[in-house]
Amino acid sequence: MDKKNKMEFKKEFVEKLKEAESLLFFTGAGISAESGVPTFRGKDGIWNKLKPEELANFNAFIKNPDMVWEWYQYRRKIVENVEPNPGHYAIAEFENYYKVDVVTQNVDNLHKRAGSTSIEELHGSIVRNFCIDCKTYYYDLDEEFENKVPKCKKCNGLIRPDVVWFGESLRGDAYPNSEQKAKSCDICFVVGTSAIVYPAAYIPITAKEYGAYIVEINLEPTELTPHINYSIFGKSGEILPEILRIVKDRNHN
Ligand code: OAD
Repeated sequence: MDKKNKMEFKKEFVEKLKEAESLLFFTGAGISAESGVPTFRGKDGIWNKLKPEELANFNAFIKNPDMVWEWYQYRRKIVENVEPNPGHYAIAEFENYYKVDVVTQNVDNLHKRAGSTSIEELHGSIVRNFCIDCKTYYYDLDEEFENKVPKCKKCNGLIRPDVVWFGESLRGDAYPNSEQKAKSCDICFVVGTSAIVYPAAYIPITAKEYGAYIVEINLEPTELTPHINYSIFGKSGEILPEILRIVKDRNHN
């Protein structure tokens, strides 16, 4: 930071920002950490305390649907009671200056609540549910389903959250759409992700293969860091608004 407390960024990156027309933000749990949503790995990560094999896979749900449902209700409550942070809002505001796509691994709906309009949710969304038998979708389920898994009104099947569990394939067109966006962006920002869960982590790799400039924003180096053009270490809720500021200053001067 200089005397005016402005962050300094690498010249090459500032030049790329000037030339770019399209930005892709590939995000993970870290972007929501400053909103108060726990990440999965690291010191206070969810997977340090709880076992994904007991909570985030289909067999666990069939074996103990109420327990898995209750855990997702708990996480739903967390995300409903937090707000998007300056990182989410900055990404939404970049739309005033660029074509912007968001590809997120998060299920927390915070990009949408911040106002981003092009979002691929690779791992689904915690605000959607569907019947495992007839695939009917359910959004706002009543409070009565706090601790007990709801049953489908049409066929009495179990209703599950529309999130991708371990061992499952990504649903719908989320991956091919994301891949397309990776192939056509000018700058790909990799924000708040350990980038170790595939196929999601292929997205920034694809972007690089197709010529994008790759910028990582994370508290610490990740497996992807050796392949990154520019790594910025720090909090995304502080760094993204500073990058937006460069763009705004340029446009307003
Ligand atoms: P992780 O918990 O693996 O990684 C979070 C990353 O965010 C770490 O690299 C942190 O260093 C970084 N981080 C934390 N706070 C940050 C901040 N304020 N600013 C910037 N970076 C910060 O989360 P994901 O990479 O999203 O999958 O995990 C990927 C997938 O693994 C998740 O989508 C989930 C999980 O199992 C499914 O549920 C299918």
